[in-house]
Amino acid sequence: MNILEAEKNINEKGFLDLEIDVKLDLFAEIERLKKEKNAILLAHYYQEPDIQDVADYIGDSLGLAQKAQETNADIIVFAGVHFMAETAKILNPTKKVLLPDLKAGCSLADSAPAGPFRAFKEKHPDHIVVSYINCTAEIKALSDIICTSGNAEKIIESIPADKPIIFAPDKNLGAYLSKKTGRDMVLWNGACMVHEIFSLEKITKLKIRHPKAKLLAHPECEEPILAIADFVGSTTQILKFAQADSGNEYIVATETGILHQMQRNNPTKTFIPAPPNNSCACNDCPHMKLNTLEKLYLCMMYEKPEIIMDEQLRLNAKKPIDRMMEISKAAGLIG
Ligand code: 13P
Ligand code: SF4
Repeated sequence: MNILEAEKNINEKGFLDLEIDVKLDLFAEIERLKKEKNAILLAHYYQEPDIQDVADYIGDSLGLAQKAQETNADIIVFAGVHFMAETAKILNPTKKVLLPDLKAGCSLADSAPAGPFRAFKEKHPDHIVVSYINCTAEIKALSDIICTSGNAEKIIESIPADKPIIFAPDKNLGAYLSKKTGRDMVLWNGACMVHEIFSLEKITKLKIRHPKAKLLAHPECEEPILAIADFVGSTTQILKFAQADSGNEYIVATETGILHQMQRNNPTKTFIPAPPNNSCACNDCPHMKLNTLEKLYLCMMYEKPEIIMDEQLRLNAKKPIDRMMEISKAAGLIG
């Protein structure tokens, strides 16, 4: 396939389907393209290790959004999933935002389609709508405040106690927040396909085999997992906890990609991926893992696929993100 054909097929395939010379040093090529095009490469912790190793910044959703907002680069290359790249575009519209594979979606974002969500919201007209950043721009535009796993508690606490709250789309994070803050919330019935399949039974057995291991869990996990966790937090918070903690062994209940940084930052500690409810020993996000070094190189080379947004939708989706950023700054969560 040549570039013209590949460009024609980009929406159907999600990426530029071109062959790459196997002898090409993709790491060196990506570094070269970054300099040549004044591009910044932002990556989420769930990306494959090779992508994390060439990234300029690796972070959780909050950190990535802040980096995307403040960058002076001309191009933001987002190695993550669609809602993350879309958030970067919403916050920094004059920059070209690239995503290596447009089909890198999110099961949680997919669990809240705009039509049914609008109807749900209309049933609770006096409620403040707090949406987790893992949602589409349409859902953001229907929300009052966005939150991430790194700032969710502070966002909920910023809402006056007499104001009822709708929380969407993650029912597990919503239930966790409701328990932590004591606030009653109407929850949208969404969940993440990766975090809801951790096996309580297998984790319990692992804990018996490794009695000193601490269980670190992402708040998208189901309640029984969170109930036995030693620490619950965003990917960045889990990483920081493991670094600061005096222990040596950890069972990690989130997507496996994070183990790369955990192991790199703590070479003497042992990290065990929490097993899911299937025959695998670890738990990969199939959406995050759609991005590869090859697709990353091609998207930087040809500056496609690009995130393009309707301007009115962008402006409507930006308001609740701006609110989130203000609250996060006031709470000292971001600089
Ligand atoms: P973090 O913001 O904690 O990195 O989470 C993002 C995500 O998609 C978790 O599944
Ligand atoms: Fe979405 Fe879950 Fe993948 Fe995170 S791990 S991007 S919430 S499907």
